Amino acid sequence: MKHFTSIDDVDDPAGLVRDALRIKKEPLADRRFGEDLTLGLIFLNPSLRTRMSTQKAALNLGMNVIVMNIGQEGWALETEDGVVMNGQSAEHVREAAAVIGQYCNIVGIRTFGKLENREEDYAETILHKFMDFCGVPVISLESATLHPLQSLADWATIEELKSAARPKVVLTWAPHPRALLQAVPNSFAQWMNRADVDLVITHPEGYDLDSMYVGNATVTHDQNKAFEGADFIYAKNWSSYEQYGKILSTDLSWTVTPEKMNLTRDAWFMHCLPVRRNMIVADAVIDGTKSAVIQQAGNRVFAAQAVLRRILEHNF
Ligand code: CP
Repeated sequence: MKHFTSIDDVDDPAGLVRDALRIKKEPLADRRFGEDLTLGLIFLNPSLRTRMSTQKAALNLGMNVIVMNIGQEGWALETEDGVVMNGQSAEHVREAAAVIGQYCNIVGIRTFGKLENREEDYAETILHKFMDFCGVPVISLESATLHPLQSLADWATIEELKSAARPKVVLTWAPHPRALLQAVPNSFAQWMNRADVDLVITHPEGYDLDSMYVGNATVTHDQNKAFEGADFIYAKNWSSYEQYGKILSTDLSWTVTPEKMNLTRDAWFMHCLPVRRNMIVADAVIDGTKSAVIQQAGNRVFAAQAVLRRILEHNF
């Protein structure tokens, strides 16, 4: 594996999940694996879990870590080629990426879309420019369209908690006051399409995800029906893909409540965090005994460590 920006970079996703769960049992077993190598973590957008878990994963492998909040602390980046740079941007991404590649052996980058233009966001320009110009392996720390480190941790969590051989996993839209990217639901659907699960996606009309990521999932606008017999409820808000970036509904009847969870087969509640309590999920659900959100966040370390280990193994 050279880069890790989507499931398409992974030959055997189920094997990578097994790696993560094996690493969880003995996280310091490879503590010299990345010795004398440096991971750069570049953030154009805020983060708690991704930043800390990926840093921890690298430290468990003996790597040095440099974190740069380029969105707040770096020069404003120009991404278009051939422009006269007489505006706000002081540095072109071509030089910035190449320079970061001089200091780091692996680069992780978080670069969200702006939710203004679907074609622009789905082109993933900054991520691709980093891959083109930094000259070292690149890991997505969440891009405009995908969040593969999160999805790997989510799959590992489902493997740990499942009681059925082929669980029913429901990805449900839930309300949120701000317009959010489709990265987490796109990515979760993409990874679950490769797992041994029955995947159901439920959302109000107008919230269809890109069919490329929906794959073989069953899609329904009836949330109650979707919840029936579910083993896992994965809640997430996303803005409209069709009417790109628009909030079409803030209907609180889509909030995940104890009554909704009673329709399931005693399902686990999952969310990538951060979460808006009593918008996405009722306190009683997220604070309840079947909430997996902290375990999910904890597994982010082992997902990142499995990815870093493979990149180290194949490139150094
Ligand atoms: N789930 C997740 O990626 O969290 P952060 O945005 O805090 O990194």
